[in-house]
Amino acid sequence: MTAGPGAGSPSDTPFSRAVGIEVPLVCGAMYPCSNPELVAAVSDAGGIGVVQPISLTYVYGHDFRDGLRLIRRLTAKPIGMNALIERSSRYYHERMSRWVDVALEEGIRFFVTSLGNPRWVVDRVHPVGAVVYHDVTERKWALKGRDGGVDGLVAVNRRAGGHPGTRDARTLLDEVADLGLPVLCAGGIGTPAGFREALRMGYAGAQLGTRFIATTECGASEAYKAAILRAGEDDIVLTERITGVPVAVIRTPYIEQMGLTAGPIARRLLRGRRTRHWMRTFYGLKSLWQLKRASLDATGERDYWQAGRSVAGITRIEPAGEIVRTFAAAARV
Ligand SMILES: Cc1cc2nc3c(=O)[nH]c(=O)nc-3n(C[C@H](O)[C@H](O)[C@H](O)COP(=O)(O)O)c2cc1C
Repeated sequence: MTAGPGAGSPSDTPFSRAVGIEVPLVCGAMYPCSNPELVAAVSDAGGIGVVQPISLTYVYGHDFRDGLRLIRRLTAKPIGMNALIERSSRYYHERMSRWVDVALEEGIRFFVTSLGNPRWVVDRVHPVGAVVYHDVTERKWALKGRDGGVDGLVAVNRRAGGHPGTRDARTLLDEVADLGLPVLCAGGIGTPAGFREALRMGYAGAQLGTRFIATTECGASEAYKAAILRAGEDDIVLTERITGVPVAVIRTPYIEQMGLTAGPIARRLLRGRRTRHWMRTFYGLKSLWQLKRASLDATGERDYWQAGRSVAGITRIEPAGEIVRTFAAAARV
């Protein structure tokens, strides 16, 4: 058990208390950038790293349980798991369901759910005292999460990496604040000052992605990390070409050449009631392969680099633990 941040400290929030960590700072799940060493380093420094199961298994080649045990050998502190709960494929749902069971058996007590109804995860993990936070981009999804029994929300704003929302951080917090759930801020935080500001705004913590790619522990290629250091806020564009819904990426000649929108046929298939599940599965498989290749590829020929607008404040590759400590110190000021 961790010592905890101490009552009254800015890091002492309903989130840090519920999860048993010192700093309410999450290294969000990242396909394909979450590797065991990164997850462990963030947790070991007092934040919490979240395992992305497909990244752990498909990108980094670990059996799921063995991968969790590897992280356990690197840190005894709490870690989390991302459960993508969209039910568009039964095979995928069954696999996710088994992964949740294995995670519980291996002692994971923090789950971040994305897409879909989190009820089955809540029902599965609450009996052993685990906590579920649900990714939301607007009130509609927050209500669905609350009705599904989640313990908190991850408010994904318009500056986030991955699939960003459409609201700014303050508007989104205002939109969900009355639901009585602790809310984490996801999106656009690349500096200690940004973290402090989110806590002052009333967030119970923050989930970061992009900042943790530019770390010594992250398994992404050096070309990818260098592109994050170079990029400014205006270099981030949204493309539908990867997953069929907008994903934040760094603008590169390759991205420009591909264009940013899905073609007309793909669009029609993505909208159709009968075809959209098939289309999402297709995009899902295609993007898993493309992103894996691009994130590890040192040549930088196919630069599919996902990153959010927080790139603007990221100027150095640092050890992940150092980031957690610097952010925690800034929150205390
Ligand atoms: C490369 C990358 C991959 C991501 N993959 C996932 C994912 O698989 N599942 C998920 O729930 N969120 C994913 N996200 C979102 C992050 O967990 C986090 O919420 C987001 O990055 C926060 O915004 P920031 O990048 O501005 O810090 C991803 C983000 C990035 C940058």
